[in-house]
Amino acid sequence: MSARKITVVGAGHVGEVCAQRLAEKELCQEVVLIDIVEGTPQGKGLDQWQSAPVEGFDTMVTGANDYGPAEGSDLFIVTAGIARKPGMSRDDLLRTNAGIVRSVSTEIARVAPDAVVIVVSNPLDVMAYVAKETTGFPRERVIGMAGVLDTARFRAFIAMELDVSVEDIQAMVLGGHGDTMVPLVSYTSVSGIPVSRLIPQDRLDAIIDRTRNGGAEIVKHLKTGSAYYAPSAAAVQMAESIVRNKRRILPAAAYLEGEYGQAGIYLGVPCKLGEGGLKEVIEVELTESESAALARSADHVRGVMANL
Ligand code: LAC
Repeated sequence: MSARKITVVGAGHVGEVCAQRLAEKELCQEVVLIDIVEGTPQGKGLDQWQSAPVEGFDTMVTGANDYGPAEGSDLFIVTAGIARKPGMSRDDLLRTNAGIVRSVSTEIARVAPDAVVIVVSNPLDVMAYVAKETTGFPRERVIGMAGVLDTARFRAFIAMELDVSVEDIQAMVLGGHGDTMVPLVSYTSVSGIPVSRLIPQDRLDAIIDRTRNGGAEIVKHLKTGSAYYAPSAAAVQMAESIVRNKRRILPAAAYLEGEYGQAGIYLGVPCKLGEGGLKEVIEVELTESESAALARSADHVRGVMANL
């Protein structure tokens, strides 16, 4: 099971690595990489395609500056926009990226009215909202990537703390993609063992803090941009669950219609992803403090939306 065509919009670091991962996993027959910079998507696409004989994949990768080649794509991963520099918050990108995501979404609705869209551009929760409003697509077909990334960071730090395989760490990070994200300790386990039985609370608190600032930690190192290996891996995992109809339950930004007491905004929640996109928002019981933290995170997203 795989898709015919997946288009990645934005040939910056996140977009280019998404394209390569999609191709190496053969999640579709063709990957189209689109960017406004002349030559960049064409060059990167051709370079990736030339890695195919060595890596052994048959997914064709091409690049373009217009949306013609994206026509009829099953899925889009939208990475277009500027990235933050040290000292900036994701919210500082709002105005610039909203304009970019609006124009990208208009093109998507024109060339592929039945596509599923995974939004990666920041500030994530609000950009997903802009994409949904502009495309006019139902919530099933516009989903934001952030929870898988935030959860991956949480899992990686727990694995380091315990010196065990990342494969055995199950976790769930909900809420907005920002400082207000909500790592759910009560649903975090190591091979089924609740993490609180293995890591003392003060260490867990430090890991949660590092997870919340995980994106900023990378920006501080890189100085000229933000993370891309883990963000692209996360977006492609969501794409895989959708095009292979795996029905995985992954934390992702979904448009809420009353779930978790929220409506009219995108927020990170457990989502079942499969054919057609979002199949279900899974509601789990939260502790009082987790509920309060999720509500605070929702308020923060609303505050950013108000600046649109
Ligand atoms: C991060 C950016 C991509 O969390 O939001 O690294």
